[in-house]
Amino acid sequence: MSSHASRRGIEAVSAAVLAMSRHLEVREVLQTIVGSARELLDAEYAALGVPDDHGGFAQFVVDGISDEQWKAIGPLPRQHGILALMLSEATTQRLPDVRKHPSFDGWPKAHPDMTDFIGMPVVDGDEVLAALFLANKRCPTPVDVCGFTEEDEALLRILAAHAAIALVNARLYERSRELTLVGERARIAHELHDAVSQKLFSLRLTAQAAATLVDRDPARAKDELRQVAALAAEAADELRAVVVEMRPAALDEDGLVAALRSEVQVLGRAHTASVDFATVRLRALPAAQEEAVLRVAQEALHNALRHSGATAVTVRLEGRAKGAVLTVTDDGCGFDPSAVRRAGRHLGLVSMRDRASSVGGALTVQSALGKGTVIEMEVPGG
Ligand SMILES: Nc1ncnc2c1ncn2[C@@H]1O[C@H](COP(=O)(O)OP(=O)(O)OP(=O)(O)O)[C@@H](O)[C@H]1O
Ligand SMILES: [Mg+2]
Repeated sequence: MSSHASRRGIEAVSAAVLAMSRHLEVREVLQTIVGSARELLDAEYAALGVPDDHGGFAQFVVDGISDEQWKAIGPLPRQHGILALMLSEATTQRLPDVRKHPSFDGWPKAHPDMTDFIGMPVVDGDEVLAALFLANKRCPTPVDVCGFTEEDEALLRILAAHAAIALVNARLYERSRELTLVGERARIAHELHDAVSQKLFSLRLTAQAAATLVDRDPARAKDELRQVAALAAEAADELRAVVVEMRPAALDEDGLVAALRSEVQVLGRAHTASVDFATVRLRALPAAQEEAVLRVAQEALHNALRHSGATAVTVRLEGRAKGAVLTVTDDGCGFDPSAVRRAGRHLGLVSMRDRASSVGGALTVQSALGKGTVIEMEVPGG
């Protein structure tokens, strides 16, 4: 190869590699690979197939074939003949006439006729990611068949090595995006659970209280109904906050202690159990920790009122040299925490743990049947 030719080759490969790395979606990467390969080796046709596990191709992209032609050829090829050979044995095939190869078993109808052929597996370690192949090298005089050269093979090998990297990266990118989406869905589910369904629960209790009071004490019923309206407005705010990922509105407006106190008052009024709130030597906490404390207190409180049949529930927030400790205690029926299935409908305990650990804190659940429940969360402070 002359030095001029080799420089051109390097430039072309470099352009192809840059083009590949500009794309993030697997399909675009594949399309760039075949397009670059066809241009680089000056071939009439290029294709790349990503095998699936069922003897077919998960993806198959072509270059040099019009859409109409592609449609006319019909269904995607299966892994047979020379394609299968490249995939199963990971071998390079450079043939002056593909039709004379012992594995050749004919073209489907409408398939263009091909003569000279070069095929190369795209491998990552032991795994064959794809087969890249080209046919019909363009010749100076179109009637000749010139065929792919050793130099073409060397270029294609470099391209295939980079294609492997581009393909693996694109897959990782797509996978990470899926994971982010799944994570995002879990976050929204937790937020909805922690914020909105709690408010709706309070709302239901208050509405029930109003209903029982309406004949006996219409004035108090009216108060309760006002509370229903206020809770409905708060639920709407919470919902909006979940959607735009904000902190609970009450925290910014009133601070942690006031937000907790009003929560306790609302529930205490609506419920037969007595609900008390105390703070001891509390200093300000970082915003994220305040939010975690509020959410965990709300969930623990609601669990106590919904599940335990307690006559007394207390919420206590105590400052430490650094950070604070939240304790929610009830004298109800208790439960076996290890028997609560992590998956499924019960989100509360899981969510409390997540919230504690997300701010560097720790959650403990002490409970036993007949012994009541103590939920404790320690947060580290600023
Ligand atoms: N203070 C408590 N007293 C008695 N049982 C409790 C208490 N807290 C939780 N439990 C039991 O543990 C289970 C799981 O609680 P968790 O908060 O995870 O889910 P949940 O309250 O059932 O549903 P949600 O997802 O709405 O919170 C409850 O169904 C209940 O049986
Ligand atoms: Mg719960």
